[in-house]
Amino acid sequence: MTQSASPLSLNPGSAAPAGAAAPADDAAPRRSDFADDFLWGCATSSYQIEGAAHEDGRVESIWDRFAATPGKIRDGSSGAVACDHYHRWPQDLDIARSLGLNAYRFSIAWPRIFDGVDAAPNDKGLGFYDRLVDGMLERGLQPWATLYHWDLPQWLQERGGWNERATVDAFVELADAVTRRLGDRVKHWITQNEPWCTAMIGHHEGWHAPGLSDFKTALQVCHHVLLSHGKAVPVIRANVPDAKVGIALSLHPVRAASDSPEDRAALLRHDGLRFRWFMDPLYGRGYPAQTVSAVGPAAPVILEGDLDAIAAPTDFLGVNYYFPETVAHAPGHGPLGARVLPPGADVQTTAMGWEVAPEGLTELLRRIEDEYRPGPIYLTENGSCYDDALEPDGAIHDGERRAYLQRHLGALRDTVRAGVPVKGYFAWSLLDNFEWAEGYLRRFGLVHVDYATQQRRLKDSARWYRAFLHGEE
Ligand code: FCB
Repeated sequence: MTQSASPLSLNPGSAAPAGAAAPADDAAPRRSDFADDFLWGCATSSYQIEGAAHEDGRVESIWDRFAATPGKIRDGSSGAVACDHYHRWPQDLDIARSLGLNAYRFSIAWPRIFDGVDAAPNDKGLGFYDRLVDGMLERGLQPWATLYHWDLPQWLQERGGWNERATVDAFVELADAVTRRLGDRVKHWITQNEPWCTAMIGHHEGWHAPGLSDFKTALQVCHHVLLSHGKAVPVIRANVPDAKVGIALSLHPVRAASDSPEDRAALLRHDGLRFRWFMDPLYGRGYPAQTVSAVGPAAPVILEGDLDAIAAPTDFLGVNYYFPETVAHAPGHGPLGARVLPPGADVQTTAMGWEVAPEGLTELLRRIEDEYRPGPIYLTENGSCYDDALEPDGAIHDGERRAYLQRHLGALRDTVRAGVPVKGYFAWSLLDNFEWAEGYLRRFGLVHVDYATQQRRLKDSARWYRAFLHGEE
């Protein structure tokens, strides 16, 4: 574990106040380095893998609509078929079991549950998740259900979507219906996946559904998404007394581009919005005052009781980690005059252009633990995209993905040794899938999917994860 090389990092390293950092260990990680009850999973999401867009009463989602809008998805594709997981789930869960996983993260497609016409939930939609969950349990996979991974029903969008408070109530109804049906078997619930992306990418940057570009809307959406989390927590607990409930945030360790006062100030502005805007209210501190004043009239409308609701005690924090961010002063750039720089030419990157930085994982988790002490932490997503080549013999030699996985598990081992209570790891993703605005051009799977035939093939990274989980690495 090394301190960030940059002059100002908000991520403590060896000087961390709450305990000495363990020295980085060059030895390859082994499963036996982790606790026996450590969870080993893969993460997926409904719209990215299920397909079956028109089956069993599923209605349109904002991603169906967005994908049907010319120019929004790079390859012009959609999730209409995706990995056809809706029909092929037994095979996919067999693969998950064969890798040696003991947990599996999936999400519920809201448009399968409520169609905007019937007040009652759609029995066929719930029935699919019933079978899926039973399939997990039969295979020794602990189900981890996410209630929202971005596929809002289009009918709710037409009523204003997450910008409207009524969508918070609709989400609570979803949480109620789904936990009533599955709660006897599903004990681990993630309310929201990556509120930053829903709010900022969907409503400010505009390159995710619903494709809006308005900062004030994005902050109101963000507030409603956080509120929907907080309001769902007690409902889940009422339906599932032994539930473990949390939220999954996409977080980055952040560094200033230079030691200049301007870059350091830009870093603090960026961090206020990108990190503290989420962590502070979730852990009872309200929105960070400096950021509230920096966003000025774009600040969201907050009603009495909202901040208490958002701060509902949870059982774990889900962290999705992919890469660190380096921030520079950039007047006029974005709402706060701060810009995330692309990685330098000397830095290793994935095919997404994301910096490969396993030590960033340690920095990030250390910071979260030192500043918030959220209780158990789960890595609910971590993974890499590379341009895989399918060899004539069906092999996929994805050595870079395998190295990414191995190095991040090494960093995770060091982090746990340093006293950060990480209890599980979910690789993103089991299968290649519909990567949002990138369509099928980007492959994150440990398992290759041939979209023409729907054939699944284990990549070398999956074989490595399997060997690791079976104690052979
Ligand atoms: C995360 C998303 C997930 C996937 C990965 C690559 O931000 O939660 O659905 O797209 O990125």
